[in-house]
Amino acid sequence: MDIEQITVTLASELADKNPRIILKTAIQHFDNIALSFSGAEDVALVDMALKIKPDLNVFVLDTGRLHPETYRFLEKVRSHYGIKLDVQYPDHSTLETFVRERGLFSFYTEGHEACCKIRKVDPLRRKLGTVDAWITGQRKDQSATRENLPEVQIDSAFSSPDHTLVKFNPLANWSSQQVWDHIKAYQVPFNELHSQGYRSIGCEPCTRTTLPYQSEREGRWWWEDASKKECGLHNNLKN
Ligand code: ADX
Ligand code: SF4
Repeated sequence: MDIEQITVTLASELADKNPRIILKTAIQHFDNIALSFSGAEDVALVDMALKIKPDLNVFVLDTGRLHPETYRFLEKVRSHYGIKLDVQYPDHSTLETFVRERGLFSFYTEGHEACCKIRKVDPLRRKLGTVDAWITGQRKDQSATRENLPEVQIDSAFSSPDHTLVKFNPLANWSSQQVWDHIKAYQVPFNELHSQGYRSIGCEPCTRTTLPYQSEREGRWWWEDASKKECGLHNNLKN
């Protein structure tokens, strides 16, 4: 069976399954697999995955613009689980040219795509070129753009003609409440920003707290239209 057929079979096998079963299946099928961790409540996924495979590759895209609290939290996760957190950085010369020409806050007036591309998407592409499959902490309940999120899919955004990449979303069917129940029940460390009213956490200049009646995504790139609140990491959402 080729990778597309395997993915189709897994997609029907994993439909509506819980995160642990999805993780276990992903790890059993792919030796060369990595988990992407944003430093937010997706730590629940890190916790579950490391119990299945203690030496799983966990990577973080360090944009250089994360909150100090997030950097402290990443360090806490590294020592708590005794893992080699795989921190990925942007290409320095591309970033230097960008900042020299557009400044440090161009996203407020020119949109976030160019900055996200250099600081997140390009480093992600480089990383994903080295693996056969990746695991994300996306959930359907995070935003309207994710409401059809499948448990497993071909990642068309980061596949190339000679490299088919598979993407697993084990938390797809979990609500934010279920994630937090896991964090509390298993005493998983969490980012202190969550105690300060932050629900969705990204880069510091592009993230703010939300009020109870707002959706969590409203705290991200709040100056932009709701349809643009994806930074390019998950461009295959329509698959
Ligand atoms: S984003 O595309 O808007 O930034 P979001 O913050 O919702 O993504 O996180 C969804 C998932 O994308 C995370 O659980 C994680 O798998 C991945 N992700 C987001 N930001 C990062 C990051 N800085 N480093 C690694 N993975 C990330
Ligand atoms: Fe740049 Fe903001 Fe995107 Fe971070 S979220 S990479 S600071 S535009």
